[in-house]
Amino acid sequence: MKLVTCCSFKGGAGKTTALMGLCSALTSKGKRVALFEADENRPLTKWKRNALSRDAWDPSCEIFVAEELPLLEAAYGQAEAEGFDYALADTHGGSSELNNTIIASSQFLIVPTMLTPIDVDEALATFRYIMELLLSENLVVPAVILRQRVPVGRLTASQRSMLDMLAELPLVDKPMYERDAFATMKDRGMLHLNIRNTAGNAAMRLGLRNLATAMEELNELGRFVDDALER
Ligand SMILES: Nc1ncnc2c1ncn2[C@@H]1O[C@H](COP(=O)(O)OP(=O)(O)OP(=O)(O)O)[C@@H](O)[C@H]1O
Ligand SMILES: [Mg+2]
Repeated sequence: MKLVTCCSFKGGAGKTTALMGLCSALTSKGKRVALFEADENRPLTKWKRNALSRDAWDPSCEIFVAEELPLLEAAYGQAEAEGFDYALADTHGGSSELNNTIIASSQFLIVPTMLTPIDVDEALATFRYIMELLLSENLVVPAVILRQRVPVGRLTASQRSMLDMLAELPLVDKPMYERDAFATMKDRGMLHLNIRNTAGNAAMRLGLRNLATAMEELNELGRFVDDALER
């Protein structure tokens, strides 16, 4: 089982959304995904509840509450024993012993960031913190920055200079764009199932195209993560 974690010091950086999207991409390929809910606000549990009410939850995907160390350990053991292909951990913002343990146990780390100066500053601090933590534990875990909520259209000068600041760091090759399809995932459930449920609805044809574009981007994110895990 491969543990992939989204983390950042900054609240609202897009961790949970990136994780939900990655979960949808992997699940749509028939992978079994365990979700470690390490944020006491339990956004993934809410996601599942909303998804079930819209028939947009794949039952092969399971949530494990992991908001305390003993729960995390139990979740890890159980998910591994049950043969999940991936565990995706959604952390709370900031640093904690729980987050440190998750980071040190991961095979791949994703630090999402929006392109504002405050967000990029926090992303750089998170990245440095991760590197120091791994170094102190003598671990090598690949970590990448995911540019999150990037406008589809023209970027402002400030956003472009933030991109320049990130250019030195390992990046997910494509950003996650600011899209309704991503913003509404938390209410609508897994994107690929949302697409399936919408497919027969002629009135939704244009909306469907937007969902499909967003899904293709998530699939690319899934392939990027898989390639990184194989290396
Ligand atoms: N690519 C995106 N396109 C549009 N909206 C997005 C995107 N990514 C995140 N959002 C929205 O931004 C807000 C914050 O995202 P999210 O909850 O994923 O951040 P987070 O880092 O998990 O926050 P927290 O620190 O509170 O856990 C949410 O309302 C979400 O719907
Ligand atoms: Mg979150």
